[in-house]
Amino acid sequence: MDHFTYKSGRLHAEDVALDAIAEAVGTPVYVYSSATLMRHFTVFNIALGDLDALVCFAVKANSNQAVIRTLAGLGAGADVVSGGELQRALKAGVPASKIVFSGVGKTEGEIRAALSAGIKQINVESVPELERISAIAEHMGVTAPVALRVNPDVDAGTHEKITTGRKENKFGIEWTDAHAVYRKAASLPGVKAQGLAVHIGSQLLDLKPFRDAYVRAGDLVAMLRADGLDVEVLDIGGGLGIPYGAEDETDAPTPQDYARVIRETVGNLGVQLVLEPGRMIAGNSGVLLTTVEYVKEGSTKTFAIVDAGMNDLIRPTLYSAYHHIVPVAEPAAGAPLTELDVVGPICETGDTFAKNRRMAPVRAGDLLVLRTAGAYGAVQASTYNTRALVPEVMVMGDAFAVVRPRQSVDDIIALDRLPHWLED
Ligand code: LLP
Repeated sequence: MDHFTYKSGRLHAEDVALDAIAEAVGTPVYVYSSATLMRHFTVFNIALGDLDALVCFAVKANSNQAVIRTLAGLGAGADVVSGGELQRALKAGVPASKIVFSGVGKTEGEIRAALSAGIKQINVESVPELERISAIAEHMGVTAPVALRVNPDVDAGTHEKITTGRKENKFGIEWTDAHAVYRKAASLPGVKAQGLAVHIGSQLLDLKPFRDAYVRAGDLVAMLRADGLDVEVLDIGGGLGIPYGAEDETDAPTPQDYARVIRETVGNLGVQLVLEPGRMIAGNSGVLLTTVEYVKEGSTKTFAIVDAGMNDLIRPTLYSAYHHIVPVAEPAAGAPLTELDVVGPICETGDTFAKNRRMAPVRAGDLLVLRTAGAYGAVQASTYNTRALVPEVMVMGDAFAVVRPRQSVDDIIALDRLPHWLED
């Protein structure tokens, strides 16, 4: 459920008409609904019931300060994957004690920053990384709390670019090596081995791979303990899929369904669970609002050319992702549908948001929204074609605020420098 609904014939974010935002801020613009964001976090948390669990929002899904702070206010921790995200989470008010740091390529500087901040846990992805963390921590005179990210060799059955838990993927320590590496971690002077982490992929619409991975993780916990090793934390990652509205989409599992799998597989291990949902919390909380610039009638197709491009929302071209597209003006009930390709202005055929989409006819000047753009939308934007990063707006009830202003082209150009031989 979300808070983007038609009221008096216009699409609203909560109690704010999207036309009002377009008029005030211009398009394209990302619009987030605080009520939806808070609802998703709360529903997720409630589903976990009395499990000893810490929900760490995967900041990579949406790293705007306003989004992180809204969630932090509800008690969320943060899952970060770079020094930049660590800084963002701390700045937004997430306590260091609720921050976990994942990622395969942490630099020395990033490890130092995490240890200086005193975060809850670093999820270690390889033996060389483990050794590096131990050496840095020793040098700094601290003990690094670490979990080993193990690769459970489970196929998440999701898009190949966002599956992470097969042994041919670059993530985690191989399942068969995990026990020996944990023992090694327990013996290193600079680290405290406090647990395990698994994350098998993103946008999972089937719970079976989660079940398989969690059973494996539970077995490993038992093996480690039988060997006299301490395991206090089990980070079970993110990845729960959400409905994007495609007609052929299978039903997305609910947080309750997911929580049942968790309870049945790792609920009784006597560990603190850490969860890292991103998309589940932020996805349906945001839309990308765009204006139709032209309607171009081809001999075989009609193109709606909008002012947003693949640089603003790359998911359709990168993952062949479906995003539901609806007009801000509510179509009359029973109005005939037409077939459109909705495309952006960028000089690539890949700059296509939807092909042969059946939707209400559109005219130049109409406002459209691409739904379910709150996760992996603005954060993956670029300035390709020297198109400025679009603004982000957050709505709360009948109020809205610009939470990131539109970048200017001057800002972009000002980043360039001429070498001395080209200066006037
Ligand atoms: N934890 C780790 C270690 C991750 O790598 C990820 C996502 C998450 C948590 C959060 O997963 P989520 O709950 O959001 O599925 N850009 C792609 C998605 C990439 C996901 C990468 N890792 C997309 O737009 O679909």
